[in-house]
Amino acid sequence: MRFDIITIFPGVFNSYLKESLVKKASEKKKIEVKIHDLRKWADDVHKTVDDTPFGGGGGMVMKAEPIHKAVSSLKGKGDKTRVVLFTPRGRRFNQRRATKLTEYNQVIMICGRYEGVDERVAKYIADEELSIGSYVLMGGELPAMVVLETVSRLVPGVVGKESFLQERKRGECFLECPQYTRPENITINGKKRSVPSVLLSGDHRKIAEWRDKKGKIIK
Ligand SMILES: C[S@@+](CC[C@H](N)C(=O)[O-])C[C@H]1O[C@@H](n2cnc3c(N)ncnc32)[C@H](O)[C@@H]1O
Repeated sequence: MRFDIITIFPGVFNSYLKESLVKKASEKKKIEVKIHDLRKWADDVHKTVDDTPFGGGGGMVMKAEPIHKAVSSLKGKGDKTRVVLFTPRGRRFNQRRATKLTEYNQVIMICGRYEGVDERVAKYIADEELSIGSYVLMGGELPAMVVLETVSRLVPGVVGKESFLQERKRGECFLECPQYTRPENITINGKKRSVPSVLLSGDHRKIAEWRDKKGKIIK
């Protein structure tokens, strides 16, 4: 599965792509991630990708033409491609939408900045507008990392745990029960804090019941 991310701040992705599990997944060729500087598709000497809004108002708006050129040149021939534009008013990204995206061979993500993106991108270029939450960020780069990580995790072989693929099939997010590790007892702010005794009981049926009870499913 291939991810193409279009941004005016390509450097933002450097450390993330070099240090995370996403790096391992790329090395194992489970996914391919390419970061593209939108300015490459600007056709003036200043590499302009934004302009003032029609009708007035503060701030700058990202131009549609460089984005159009970028998307057209990145779309793989014959690939099943999904073009995502990040906007705070888009549909809320969740586990189900992440699962849906795994049906494509290529996901092209457009990161907005400034006051947003010329509306013609949402209307005529993107297949869907996604929001990662009801708040306004300064750009689409963090949303792109969120989508990249959530979708990659569902690609077989990336996380390597069969149970994750079950989530993928259900399109829901199974949150596992709370986890504990050694030591059994620790002192926090002067009080002894212990691991639930059922987890130390060795009774596999009881442990499974406890985990079922404590696990949560979010939609
Ligand atoms: C400062 S925001 C633009 C806000 C715009 N004036 C509005 O109210 O829709 C700049 C860019 O950040 C990204 N962005 C901000 N918040 C987001 C969110 N919650 N989900 C997804 N993208 C977001 C979008 O790409 C957006 O174009």
